[in-house]
Amino acid sequence: MKKIAVLTSGGDSPGMNAAIRSIVRTGIFEDMIIYGVQGGYQGLINGDLMELNIASVADIIQRGGTILGTSRSDEFETEEGLKKAMNILSVYGIEGLIVLGGDGSFRGALELSRLGMTVIGIPCTIDNDLGYTDYTIGFFTAVSTVTDAINKIRDTSSSHGRANVVEVMGRSCGDIALYAGIAGGAESIVVPEKTFTNEQVAKKTLEGKKRGKRHHIIVVAEGVGKPYEIAKDVTDITGIDTRVTILGYIQRGGAPNVTDRIMATAMGHEAVMLLCQNVGNCAMGVKNNEVFSMDLEKALEVPKSFNEDLYEVLKVVSI
Ligand code: F6P
Repeated sequence: MKKIAVLTSGGDSPGMNAAIRSIVRTGIFEDMIIYGVQGGYQGLINGDLMELNIASVADIIQRGGTILGTSRSDEFETEEGLKKAMNILSVYGIEGLIVLGGDGSFRGALELSRLGMTVIGIPCTIDNDLGYTDYTIGFFTAVSTVTDAINKIRDTSSSHGRANVVEVMGRSCGDIALYAGIAGGAESIVVPEKTFTNEQVAKKTLEGKKRGKRHHIIVVAEGVGKPYEIAKDVTDITGIDTRVTILGYIQRGGAPNVTDRIMATAMGHEAVMLLCQNVGNCAMGVKNNEVFSMDLEKALEVPKSFNEDLYEVLKVVSI
């Protein structure tokens, strides 16, 4: 394969730039021509492509976001949109497409592969909600960002003797809440994967207060919703003043941490090497610290599992 393209799609995640850099440099090293699609699948439909060279990806490994831009494209989900995208790929003579994104972006890539394009998916989402891989690029940076925020919120929580509900991203996946909650020493972690009642959260908070705790951190995954209801019930049941912080988009930005940079570089490199051998229609992933690839369609069928062991550890360490 001689001409390939890369695009970033869906919500951005720290480490996308590191992956783009790795793809471009590996491709050039292998005598390929690399196009960057600007603005995700919508940019592909619009024909917004540019050739990337070694200098185009200089000084980006440490930057959050994506230099290519991203989008959530409704048009790409239509038959017409897919046809337009395929047409642009053929006009440019592109033989292989690397898609950086999450579940929705991979499903888009799968549609293109069904129309004959050779595609490879690299998992980039802060949500860590793809079942076939241990981790997705951006997840650990987001967890660090949330942990840092919890540290700060805990200072003021202690000063005032309050409870603080902290809502974090993740869609229907509770991984950001679980990992950041553990790292931040949260008292309670509320995730969509586990049933809970506001009364249980309140009881836990009250037990902490009785033991002399002055801070009470309750991390709630966005998939659970209702952070204000939880806060109100905690106050009503315990009498402890409770505040809510919705962390929001701060979790998507910032410099990628070392784990995300290394995973992005390794997966980007391997993806290009596969295309060099005309191997495609696969998803890159990490299992037990090793980069691997598997059939894209099968990867999307693997259900996401919740880290029950870590959740059980919380019950012990948060007493
Ligand atoms: O998938 C990443 C994510 O940040 C989710 O955690 C969140 O629910 C969603 O994207 C927000 O999407 P948007 O950027 O379209 O508002």
